Amino acid sequence: MSVLNLPRHIYIESGIINKLGEFVKAHKGNRVFIIMDSFLASSPIDLDKRVEGILAKENLNISFFSDYAGEPTTDHVKAAVERLNSFNGDCVIAIGGGSAIDIAKAVSLFGKDPEIKWDEIRSRPCLNRFPLLAVPTTAGTGSEATSIMVITETETSFKMNPSHPDLIPDAAILDPELTVSLPSHFTAYTGMDALTHAMEAYVSNRATPMTDFFALEAIRIVGRALPKVYQNGSDVESRKDMILGSCYAGIAFTNASTNLVHAAGRPLGARFHIPHGLSIALLLPFVMKFGLESAKERYADVSIALGEDPSLNKDELAKRSIEIIEEFNNQFRIWEDGKKFINPEQLMEAIPTLVTDALSGNGILTNRKVPKDHDIAVIFNLLAERLSVSSLNHSLQ
Ligand SMILES: NC(=O)c1ccc[n+]([C@@H]2O[C@H](COP(=O)([O-])OP(=O)(O)OC[C@H]3O[C@@H](n4cnc5c(N)ncnc54)[C@H](O)[C@@H]3O)[C@@H](O)[C@H]2O)c1
Ligand SMILES: [Fe+2]
Repeated sequence: MSVLNLPRHIYIESGIINKLGEFVKAHKGNRVFIIMDSFLASSPIDLDKRVEGILAKENLNISFFSDYAGEPTTDHVKAAVERLNSFNGDCVIAIGGGSAIDIAKAVSLFGKDPEIKWDEIRSRPCLNRFPLLAVPTTAGTGSEATSIMVITETETSFKMNPSHPDLIPDAAILDPELTVSLPSHFTAYTGMDALTHAMEAYVSNRATPMTDFFALEAIRIVGRALPKVYQNGSDVESRKDMILGSCYAGIAFTNASTNLVHAAGRPLGARFHIPHGLSIALLLPFVMKFGLESAKERYADVSIALGEDPSLNKDELAKRSIEIIEEFNNQFRIWEDGKKFINPEQLMEAIPTLVTDALSGNGILTNRKVPKDHDIAVIFNLLAERLSVSSLNHSLQ
């Protein structure tokens, strides 16, 4: 049986944030708890003040949780739930990147059901949570449309990724204007994350005709728009394409799974404190090489969706898909940025732990060619070599 889980409402329009109050009322919210990171909630962006003004028009009671930065941890969730409780919130809104949306998913759940444990989430038949609205400001994780939340356990630095269809936000509110302020490097990281979600969903062995539909369309849209928004962040039409493509990619992967890029990217990101999308972009070409033979036809389709000439033969097309991703990584300075976070020697030393952590998360059995520990070690090795070569080239320039 195939099933497609989706948010109940997906809205998209430039400036649609101005209707946030109406959406809250439609979801019966009255005391609104808003998760927004400290960067967005301070000068010069001051998105909190703008949202306050919008919601004041509907006479809603609001409280912000903005005392955090970076990707979410269990400590952030705990602090936010305490604040929600003291405020007596009855509706949770995330305004931000995947980090804000994932904290909001956890808060909407633990705020309503304080007894539930992290490791029980997946197996519960249904979840009891507060209404949840997601307004992404990156494009992106697609978290506004997904059933997963990625939260790092503070004590162990392990990235947990519990999921449940009931964690899909009730409404995804896509306003491309909110993404215009995203700097070019985060535009590239988050855009490569979206592209990877769509590609991993398309080559997943859990792909269905429904997820293929969203995955291929996401690859087409993001492949076209990402170079444009990287060059010119104020191009609102392309920003609109990106936020739509990223949402489609979220729909595709949440219903078909991500695979080895994400399974390996989570521990890599946690160990070296790398922004999620960057860790994903760094691994993508090596994981594609590993899986190419097992999904040649599918990688050929990816190439065509990325604009390659469909008259080429399947082998050439499949190979071109990796070259196109390499070209994106060069164009978006992914290797240079990777070197800012990863010392290749330390990466080599960390490989045994990274492999164990990669195998313990999800995204392993859904690969068409299921990786063994040795295969994952080779992928990390290739990345370390690549970063050393890039360092060498850099120091010779
Ligand atoms: N739940 C899911 O489905 C899912 C999928 C993929 C990734 N993730 C998780 O999401 C997190 C990453 O989310 P992300 O990549 O969206 O980044 P993010 O939310 O961590 O934001 C990255 C940075 O960009 C800034 N920022 C965000 N929007 C901005 C804007 N419009 N203008 C200027 N700056 C802006 C933030 O302040 C932050 O400094 C990771 O924890 C990752 O594991 C979740
Ligand atoms: Fe991702």
